[in-house]
Parts: sequence; C-alpha cells; structure tokens
Amino acid sequence: MKKVMAALITLVMVTLLAACGGGGGQSKPADTKEKASGDQKDQIIIKFSHVTSKDSVKGKAADKFAELAAAKTGGKVKVEVYPSSQLYGDKDELDALVAGNVQMIAPSVTKMVKLDPRWQYVDMPFLFRDRNHALAFFKSDLAKKLLNGDKLVSNDIVGLAFWENGFKNFSNNKKPLKTAADFQGLKFRAQAGKVLEGQFKALGAGSATIPFGETYAALQQGTVDGQENTFNNIDTQKYQEVQKYLTVSNHGRLDYAIFVNKTFWDGMPQDVRTKVEEALKEATEYEWQLASQDNDKSFENLKKSGKMQITELTAAERAELEKALQPVYGEFKSIITPELIDGIKNMK
Ligand code: LMR
Repeated sequence: MKKVMAALITLVMVTLLAACGGGGGQSKPADTKEKASGDQKDQIIIKFSHVTSKDSVKGKAADKFAELAAAKTGGKVKVEVYPSSQLYGDKDELDALVAGNVQMIAPSVTKMVKLDPRWQYVDMPFLFRDRNHALAFFKSDLAKKLLNGDKLVSNDIVGLAFWENGFKNFSNNKKPLKTAADFQGLKFRAQAGKVLEGQFKALGAGSATIPFGETYAALQQGTVDGQENTFNNIDTQKYQEVQKYLTVSNHGRLDYAIFVNKTFWDGMPQDVRTKVEEALKEATEYEWQLASQDNDKSFENLKKSGKMQITELTAAERAELEKALQPVYGEFKSIITPELIDGIKNMK
C-alpha cells in the first residue's frame, strides 16, 4: 500500500513539474513576465484625475482601486491616478471627461451642478442626520437615478458609485464662529453652485467659488476669510497653517461620485469591465471604511497641531444655525426637486 502511495505522489509531482515547464521555482517569474508583456500591447488605460492629495481619503481609495483593477484583470487594465489637480482641476476635469481626455473622475458631487442642479442636494444645510443617513442614501434608488441622470448620459457620462468624505465644518481667520450673527460680513470660499452661495448669504456672509487647488493660496492671501470642509481635507491641505479658527458644525456633507466617460466604459470588453466593476465595488467598500476613520484621525491631528482654536457647537447652537439656514430650502427645494429633498429627509 505504502509503495502504491509513494508511486502516486511521485507521479503527481512529475506531472506538476512538467506543467510548470520543469524549471521549478524559476518558471513563475518568467510566466508572469510573458503575460505582462503580452498584456501591455492591448492594455486598457484608465486615466483617473482628482483634486485632493495622494494621502487624502479620495487619494488613498483611488490608489486602492488602481491596485485592485490591475490585480483582478491580470494587468490588462492600468488605472493611472493623477492626484492634486495635476492633470485637471475643478474648472476643467468634467470637460476633460466629456472629451475623453480622462476616463474617470471622482468630484465632490456639488461640482456636477454644471450639468445637473439636483446634485446640490448634498449642500442643503443639515439635510443628513448622520453618517449612516448618507450611506443609506448612497445605496438608495434615488442615488442610482442620479448616477444615471439624463443630463449626464446626454453628455456621455455615467456615474458608477458614491464615495464618502464626510461632514463639513467652517474655518476662518477672523474670529470664533458660534452663532449665525458671527458670520456677518465674512467672505468664504465655496466649491460651486448657487446653493452654497445661498447658504452663506443666509448667514449674512459673502462667498466666492474658488477651485480646490487654489484655495490654500486664497486663504493665505486673504482673498477670502474662511472656507468649509471636512477634517480630512482641512488636514491634508494644511489649512491649519492659514486658518486660526475652526467651528465643528457638521452643517453639510461633502461626498463624491465616480464618473466615467460612457463611450469608453461601454466599449470595454464585457469580461474586463466586470472585473473592473468588482475592483470598484471593493475599493468603494474600502473607501467607506477609510473616510470616517481618516476624518477622525484628521480631527485629532488638527487638535494636536495646536494651530487652530476649535469651537464645538452645542446642540442649541447647532439648532440656531439650522434655523438661520432654513431659507435655503425655500429658495432651492423646487430646483433640487422635492422628490430628492423629501426622499432623503424621510430616508431611515
Ligand atoms: C473642495 O473643493 O473643497 C472639495 O470638493 C475637494 C474634494 O474633492 O474633496
């Protein structure tokens, strides 16, 4: 019996070695190399442009997606990530996507206002109760409808997924902000769109749309007094170097969606696209984990830096701010659509 077993094991080993080309440990790298050089001929390149730094939540998730897409397609798909507005900034990344100069972008959804004003749902003050509320929206049919909106599709764009950043907080260089009255006369940098302009107006403040890549300089030079952003964006952009006061207000959200050029996406071989979709799904799960963790870490960094005076609003102070911002709903609910605003509000 033992002899039979030994003969069988030897046979299996010989067969395996033959299948590997008989080179033992050396055969594997050679195989991989051949495969890689074979793939490079018809490799599919996805240029992924974004505006935040490589170490931001979005930057890390974009790199993760690139890694997963390469691994799942055996190198057939190469995602080239261009962070920090290196390739295109806020002003032109959407045009670059439409033109097919890049294949993927992940803007803060506010910036989609250029194509469809409904994306400003995200700017409606105090619309989201907490993070789980935002995640529930990402998974909803309402969110799917937005990603596939007519105005996107007619511009050859389709949305694939929502990525999270988090709640925004105000910073400025003039004084601690606690009440609505404190905002009077200050000027803030805004991302884009009429809703954010209306938000600052409701507080008696002015605003200017400034691309993300130019915001640090605008704060440093005093072009504007303040801005609103997530802890992670504030920290990774080092706004603490140029802003003295931070108010933890959690008054609105900053979230992303992944958009692709539709002609490019539809033209990808089905089997490859399925793998890239899998990679994006995993990268999205990773991103949702990372966003809240990294925002918490960034808040700790901001506290530790000792550079900003931090004001945490009480529930009553938040309620007062929320009340002062109610006129924004009167002005914009019909534009963003009651379907979306009420749909989000009533979401469990
Ligand atoms: C901003 O402009 O403040 C943000 O949209 C940047 C980003 O992409 O997170």
